Parts: sequence; structure tokens; C-alpha cells
Amino acid sequence: MQSLFQQHLNQLQALAQDILQTNRADGIWIHAGEEQYHFLDDQTKPFKINPLFNYFVPHTHAVGSWLYLDGVNKPHLYFYQPDDYWYLHEAAPQAFWTAEFEWTILKHADDIKTHFHDLDRTLYLGEEVALAQAFGFRQINPQKALNYLHYQRSIKTDYELHCLQQAQFAALKGHQAAQAAFFDGQSEFEINLAYLRASEQSDLSVPYGNIVAINQHSAVLHYTRLQTQNPPQRLSFLLDAGASYLGYAADITRSYSFDPNDEFAQMVQVLDRNKLVIIEQMQVGYNYLSYHTMMQQAIAAILHDFDLVRLPAEQIFEEGINRTFFPHGLGHLLGLQVHDVAGFQQNRRGTHKAPPEVYPSLRCTRNLEANMVLTVEPGLYFIPMLLQAWRNHPLAKQFNWQKIDRFTAYGGIRSEDNIVITANGAENLTQNALTALGG
Ligand code: GLY
Ligand code: MN
Ligand code: MN
Repeated sequence: MQSLFQQHLNQLQALAQDILQTNRADGIWIHAGEEQYHFLDDQTKPFKINPLFNYFVPHTHAVGSWLYLDGVNKPHLYFYQPDDYWYLHEAAPQAFWTAEFEWTILKHADDIKTHFHDLDRTLYLGEEVALAQAFGFRQINPQKALNYLHYQRSIKTDYELHCLQQAQFAALKGHQAAQAAFFDGQSEFEINLAYLRASEQSDLSVPYGNIVAINQHSAVLHYTRLQTQNPPQRLSFLLDAGASYLGYAADITRSYSFDPNDEFAQMVQVLDRNKLVIIEQMQVGYNYLSYHTMMQQAIAAILHDFDLVRLPAEQIFEEGINRTFFPHGLGHLLGLQVHDVAGFQQNRRGTHKAPPEVYPSLRCTRNLEANMVLTVEPGLYFIPMLLQAWRNHPLAKQFNWQKIDRFTAYGGIRSEDNIVITANGAENLTQNALTALGG
């Protein structure tokens, strides 16, 4: 792990040099971030570390800490560790990465000021813009520097790939426990507790709000309500829940039919298979959009095969009916952020490629490159609001409304794996971890 991290940091040092050169600067201060208060309150929001700090430093709780880089000398960590008996402040950790930094302990937040120099030739990267201005920084979050960093973040180092692989294990343990809790008859609220316990996370440490959805709740794409009551009838379950490892996220979804032999269960299986077929086809050099389009075509075929829409698959696709049932993107880049940066950014300079108008929710328009990590997460949902638009359409009579209305009670299906693009195709991090766990 230590040598993986050393290589990672060496690559980032080279990047820091490039950034300094293009910004005509001598140094970069990266601020981990400060606690943010709720409006008119003395309670703080959950702390979320500046991902750029976390990119260099494998520590997610370093509130009030700073990192200084000049691209040549050892990165210098100014670690905030006040004397405080109200809150726990992390002690300076001893870990595989700590020897790679120069260390200074800050006892008072203001002490950092004494370490600043030549501020007009120094970049500030962080969220506390007003504070940075008050300190006298002139180059605050310059877009050129962010573009470089974001682009590099979309191509993972071996250290990052290791972290992303590790994050899968905790998430999958949670998924196993949640699956058992669903079939055991537990409520969304209880299933969520089972997930958190098995994955050893709190509801504040998960990388995104768990989506624990029984029946039609699974048609609400970002459903996070958690009902304590059970519905009268149990039909289906969708769990979209992750975990993180040193800040790197897993983002995994599984869907189930309560009756493993019914038609909805078959549809879950078919969607799952389609996901794996798409992953098998992924190749360096092809645009992510082409796989999204392929999946839209596969959804059109499923609508035909399950007799939900009585038109040939090609026509379902031409008419865009599939988009009503699969209204989100195939997936997104994954890393320190669940929806990781640079999904649309084509190069270091920051050229932006928007998704096509017909697929506004697609979060990635990149050509695939080795060491990109992405999710592949097709879905098929029965969303009353979107279906409504077809009820008065000239093609309405081609829809099998009786069946669609029956499946509306099941909500929907999503199947989501996390993959890394390799020189020869794609490796499935989620399936790797499942195999290692013997499942
Ligand atoms: N969990 C959010 C997503 O799958 O994108
Ligand atoms: Mn997800
Ligand atoms: Mn996702």
C-alpha cells in the first residue's frame, strides 16, 4: 500500500508542477475545509472534506487542515489538532501515508497565517472563498488549475483503483444483509439499519444517501425517505447503497422481486444480463454515449419481449418510448465523489461536451480510456408521471396498459456495477468482490 501511495503522490507532484507552470505560480494551498453551521444554529452540517485535499491526503476527517505543495519538495501537511474537550479532533494518524508528508500541527486555526508567503504567486483551492480573500489570496480556485486536477482525477492511479476495489467489500456485505432483511419482512427503516450495521457505516459516513425502496418507491429515482411501516403487500425491493474506503466510493444497486418465480423476477434477471453484456463490450476509444444508446435499444427490446409495448423494438426505440422507462443515464465516473468530476470534460483544458438533447440526464460523454472507473446502471421503471404523457398519444393503444399498471405497483428495477476500463476491455470491480466473498 505504501508503494502504491508513493507512486500516486509522485504522479500528483508532477501534476502540481504543471499547474504551477501554467498558472505562473510558486505554490498551492489546498484547504481541507471548515465546519459549516446550519442557518441560525450552533449545530454543524456533516463535514465533507474538500475532494482535492483527499486526492493528496488519505484522510477524510481533517477539518481545518491545510496542504502546501510546490511540486518539488515533500508536500507539507498543516494538521489542525486543537486542545478541545468539546469535540474529538483526530490525532495525527500513523499510517502507510504519513511519512510522505512534512508535518506541522496547528493548535489554533489562525496559526496557518504565519505559514503563508508570496500570496500573489500562490493558489488557494478550497471552499472557504471569503476566508481566502481575507487572508489575501488572489488566485482562488482558478478554473485552469481545477480543469487539470479534474481531468487527472478521471484517470485513476493504481492506488486509487485499490481503494475503489476495497470499497466494494463493505458495500456488498451491506447488500447481503439488506437482501436478507427484505425477504425476512423488515421495513425500509429496518433494512437500512441492517445495511449500516453490516457495512460498518453510520448514516453520515455513507458516500450518498441510501436508497432503500420497497414496491413503488423504487420508481422514485432518488428515494431516501425510509418508511418505518411495512406496506400491506410486499412485491419488490431496490437497494442503491455504497461505502467508501479512504474517501473512494462504491455505488451499487440491486433489485429483487419478492416472488422469485414471477414475471417481474424474470425482468430483473434480463436487465442484469443486459448490464453484463454491455460491460463485456466496453473498449478503450469508444464513447460512453454509444453504450448508453445500446442500453436504450436493449430496453426497447425488453419492452417488446415482455409484451409491455406492442411494437417492434426498432420502432419503440425510434419513437423514444424506451426513454420513458429508462429516463436516466447509463452511469457516471466514480471516485472520491460518487458522481465524479470530469464526466463531460474532454481534455485538461476543460473542453465540455454536453449530452445529446434526448439524453439530458447522461452524466458522461467521455471516450473510454484505460483506468477510468465508471458505473454501469441500467434501469427500467414504471413511473406514473412519465407514462401519463403516452396515455393520450396516438400510439397509446400499442401500450399494454393492463400489464404496465400491474407492474407500476412494483416500481422499477436498477442494476448497478462499478467497473474499471483496462487496455483490453473492462474489469468489473463489483463482480470481483462478489467472487472473493464467495457469492
Ligand atoms: N446512487 C446514485 C447513483 O447511482 O447515481
Ligand atoms: Mn447508485
Ligand atoms: Mn450510480
